[in-house]
Amino acid sequence: MINPYVTGFPADPKSFAGRERELGEIKKAIDYTVHSEPATPQNVAIVGDWGIGKTSLLNKCKAIALDKDCFVCKITLTPEKCKNMDSFVYNTIDELHTAIWESNMFTPKLKESVSEWKIESLKFLGLELKRDAAKSTSSTLFKNGLLDLWRRVEKPTIIMYDDLHYLADSYPMGLYDLRGIFQELREYDCRFMLMCTGVSTLFSKIRGLSEPLMRFFEHIKLKPFTLDETKKSDSSATAKAKNRSGI
Ligand SMILES: Nc1ncnc2c1ncn2[C@@H]1O[C@H](COP(=O)(O)OP(=O)(O)O)[C@@H](O)[C@H]1O
Ligand SMILES: [Mg+2]
Repeated sequence: MINPYVTGFPADPKSFAGRERELGEIKKAIDYTVHSEPATPQNVAIVGDWGIGKTSLLNKCKAIALDKDCFVCKITLTPEKCKNMDSFVYNTIDELHTAIWESNMFTPKLKESVSEWKIESLKFLGLELKRDAAKSTSSTLFKNGLLDLWRRVEKPTIIMYDDLHYLADSYPMGLYDLRGIFQELREYDCRFMLMCTGVSTLFSKIRGLSEPLMRFFEHIKLKPFTLDETKKSDSSATAKAKNRSGI
């Protein structure tokens, strides 16, 4: 028998199955981010238990968003990247820079300009003394950095954080910082969309404070596949696998 899935790895967008309702909601949010006037980007949080299919869905969304001509930067978080806000911001700027250089959406001139942006943006991070003088926090630096990036790139941009619970674990207020940054960016007519995944308790850890976060993100709660979905996904994936092996 052909096993259509490589277990232990998120599904490739090509062999992704089911989740039609969730994909429909996310597509709507992406379209709204791209086309709303004035710009009103939407934000999506995909939550669910380990192994339920969050990363697979995020990868599928990345493929869909690229088809819709969005720039997408997917960041796989780790405890190390989330040990404090400075390192979270540093990593995001670094990965945005890499993703822009790897993308074929941008001209070499724009890529050079984004390298200058990276140097500028990282100048004050981690330098408490200099930063004190400038009265900036890493959140302010991040917000200003994203605003500057928008002015250079001017393309609907989706920042995807896979496993955002690592930030919630080590620095719960970081989620509020993120919300603040992306709310404020809206005032400048930027089309930055935030899409994240996390375990089901992502927002409930911040007791009493989570209400604004609940409203900030559209929540997609992933449940196990129904028997019907499993049957459908199994037959379509098996057909694709047979196709690949020429049976
Ligand atoms: N929609 C899907 N179609 C096909 N396989 C899936 C789908 N969702 C999850 N899987 C499979 O389930 C396993 C766990 O998925 P993953 O996306 O890594 O979960 P999570 O990120 O929630 O821990 C992987 O082996 C993946 O291939
Ligand atoms: Mg995952």
